[in-house]
Amino acid sequence: MKTVKIDLGARSYEVRIGRGILGRAGEILPWIEGAQACIVTDQIVAERYLAPLRAALADGGKEVTECVLPGGERDKTLDGVSRIFETMLRARCERGVSVIALGGGVVGDMAGFAAACYQRGAPFIQAPTTLLAQVDSSVGGKTGVNHELGKNMIGAFHQPRRVLADTAVLDTLDKRQFSAGMAEVIKYGAINDAEFFTWLEENIGAVMAREHGELEFIIERACANKAQVIERDEHENASGGGRALLNFGHTFGHAIEAGAGYGNWLHGEAVATGMVMAARMSARLDMIPAEECARLEKLLRAAELPVAPFAGIDADGMLDLMRGDKKVRGGKLRLVLLRALGAAEVVEDYPPEALREIVAQFTAGKSA
Ligand SMILES: NC(=O)c1ccc[n+]([C@@H]2O[C@H](COP(=O)([O-])OP(=O)(O)OC[C@H]3O[C@@H](n4cnc5c(N)ncnc54)[C@H](O)[C@@H]3O)[C@@H](O)[C@H]2O)c1
Ligand SMILES: [Zn+2]
Repeated sequence: MKTVKIDLGARSYEVRIGRGILGRAGEILPWIEGAQACIVTDQIVAERYLAPLRAALADGGKEVTECVLPGGERDKTLDGVSRIFETMLRARCERGVSVIALGGGVVGDMAGFAAACYQRGAPFIQAPTTLLAQVDSSVGGKTGVNHELGKNMIGAFHQPRRVLADTAVLDTLDKRQFSAGMAEVIKYGAINDAEFFTWLEENIGAVMAREHGELEFIIERACANKAQVIERDEHENASGGGRALLNFGHTFGHAIEAGAGYGNWLHGEAVATGMVMAARMSARLDMIPAEECARLEKLLRAAELPVAPFAGIDADGMLDLMRGDKKVRGGKLRLVLLRALGAAEVVEDYPPEALREIVAQFTAGKSA
């Protein structure tokens, strides 16, 4: 069992990581102050993991309500959140009800947003069940939904009271989803933790075999890295070295996701290729040596993630999509680049032809 402290003053909390903790009443009951709990989950997760959590709560004398969503990114909408409100209102949930997100990032973002809004703020607990959710989306307090005019455009900051990451549930996660979570794990090494990056290079075999000790370690280390970044910049206000660094690979990645049509690439897959593009750009600007780029590519490949040029988007289309990204300020496209493996920075001053060159190397069709 491992614990990571997220130190945000009055909003501080712990991430507890261990095998089987979701069925352990002692890990969750002390965090449910009132008499009521509402579990929000999706169909796939409900079938496998709802019963033990419900039992742990009911045995502790809690009145449990459940909202089982269809699941999937397409359902991450205001309508989906409305369904959560409806379930809670029908069950006469009071203001002190603890909302528990049992699922991946989609469930976590929706349940968190519902908790932020329900009677102006209900306590929230994260029980993430995908690797991505355990290392990324359950920590940091970003919640929200998609709008047809933009992904994650409606939302609120609402920190959980506790995060319970049960490594046992990762046994049933499909291979592609597991690898997608690994992209974010590798990202923390690349932007903030050189020692962890080297550890991952040496232990990637055991991690991909989902050995429990190794899983606990990478979740702990990823959360500790995310904690370090968000403790400096909880609400993404810093212009340079704050939360923006977590977007390494994401400006490229979001353009790949959008250009290929949402759903064709998993987010982590697009981020993996995006990180390689960002690293190549860093090397092109002489910020890192080419060998460090090669190390990142090799590790991503070992995590069974895509790193190669892709079809379906041309260079101009990709550049347009990148410019539409929210990180463009005053017309300038700010990029998160590496100044070493283990250290990132935001760069806005670079020759535009360098970016065009990198994008052209990865996209099909017309280029510079
Ligand atoms: N709030 C944040 O800071 C933040 C950060 C990163 C990503 N996100 C959001 O997270 C979402 C992606 O999350 P995700 O990758 O977890 O996707 P997801 O929630 O859609 O889960 C992926 C799939 O895995 C299934 N699943 C979940 N746990 C399982 C398990 N243990 N065994 C078998 N199947 C399981 C789900 O039912 C789903 O079909 C996106 O909407 C993204 O915007 C939010
Ligand atoms: Zn991401």
